[in-house]
Amino acid sequence: MDKLKIEGGPTLSGTIEISGAKNAALPLMAATLLAPGAYRLSRVPRLRDIHSFCNLLEHLGATCRWDESEAAVLHIDTTHVKGWKAPYDLVRKMRASVLVLGPLLARMGRAKVSLPGGCAIGARPIDLHLKGLRALGAEMELRDGYVEATALRLSGTAYYFDVPTVTGTENLMMAAALAQGETLLENVAREPEIVALGKMLEAMGATVEGLGTETIRIQGAPELAAVGFENIPDRIETGTYMVAAAITGGDLLLEGADPSALDAVIVKLRETGCSIETGPGFIRVQGVERPESADLTTLPYPGFPTDLQAQFMALMCVAKGASVITETIFENRFMHVAELKRLGADIRIDGRSAVVKGVEALKGAPLMATDLRASASLVLAGLRAEGTTVVNRVYHLDRGYEAMEQKLAAVGARIERIRE
Ligand code: UD1
Repeated sequence: MDKLKIEGGPTLSGTIEISGAKNAALPLMAATLLAPGAYRLSRVPRLRDIHSFCNLLEHLGATCRWDESEAAVLHIDTTHVKGWKAPYDLVRKMRASVLVLGPLLARMGRAKVSLPGGCAIGARPIDLHLKGLRALGAEMELRDGYVEATALRLSGTAYYFDVPTVTGTENLMMAAALAQGETLLENVAREPEIVALGKMLEAMGATVEGLGTETIRIQGAPELAAVGFENIPDRIETGTYMVAAAITGGDLLLEGADPSALDAVIVKLRETGCSIETGPGFIRVQGVERPESADLTTLPYPGFPTDLQAQFMALMCVAKGASVITETIFENRFMHVAELKRLGADIRIDGRSAVVKGVEALKGAPLMATDLRASASLVLAGLRAEGTTVVNRVYHLDRGYEAMEQKLAAVGARIERIRE
């Protein structure tokens, strides 16, 4: 398994090009199952999760092909999709595979999808996806670790989510786009990735109102049409490199970023002393030698994203004072704490909060990556730590960060991949 070796210390400066969002590309890819035809998705990052989703679409009968001349363009043809089963081996690799449930049910009238099970950051149930699809008229059975769903034709309904769920909202939106009549979804998630999906469904022929608010209204269409669609920039990748500038006292220009999707992160980093300039399609972050401490609570969008909690904690490890970081979305999302402590960080976990006392210096050490965003926080801490940090099991990072070590090396980081 590959490792990343980092020599800490350099102040990063220069320009980083932001990739397309993984978490938006996955639902856009799932939406191609709603109507047979040839789709052209642009700004798709070449990541392990995207390749896994291509494998799943291909298993269902689609073809996926990267454009020969444009690196970030993915062609998906769903004309010959006949399959309706997402087997355990494919779902196990990536929970977001559950996104095929809504579209398969809507287009094929049936779907059999393996239950994703727990993952490193918590139990992560999909009960709300299932309840919502039942409300749209699907029959649901749980058998041998699989959800088996059938419906002759889904019909519009009103459904209220107990808690806002990102992929749950996306599954229901896709199903509603082919359902008969109007569907009203309340207490939905408001993430930019959901807005992107809604716009693609509109382009395909559904009527979608209320995107970005807590209530979405969808008029289903009897048939939808294949389209070309441009993905949005990755706000989590952007936030990670914002912290890279902050933690090294550097100066990074993030090109192709969308500042409007990062309000909570911008406010928080300014609190730590960073200077941040934004404009159409860019964010520039200048860090300070030692950040001020700032408390943080993760919340559904537009609150501070749980997917940037670990990275922000790395920054707080070297802050001038103490901070309290509270995780409200996932129950077990502090696996990075034990690893950060190996670098000399002073962190105490108290239930859903972590109390971080900033230390003057971190010292490099061998570390183990545990999940995608935790891995990113270890790389960030390694950039600041004195001496050598080796992050093992970087396949987690490869799931969600396109060319991370190349992007960081190009702005002055001493980072290399050791292949095994
Ligand atoms: C998505 C993101 C993930 C991010 C998360 C929260 C993708 C592919 N992944 O994951 O990177 O960390 O949003 O921003 O977009 N819940 C239930 N029942 C359900 C569904 C969810 O109780 O049926 C709970 C979860 O346990 C969690 C909360 O709702 O506590 C939010 O989870 P959710 O928004 O569903 O996360 P994902 O969509 O899996």
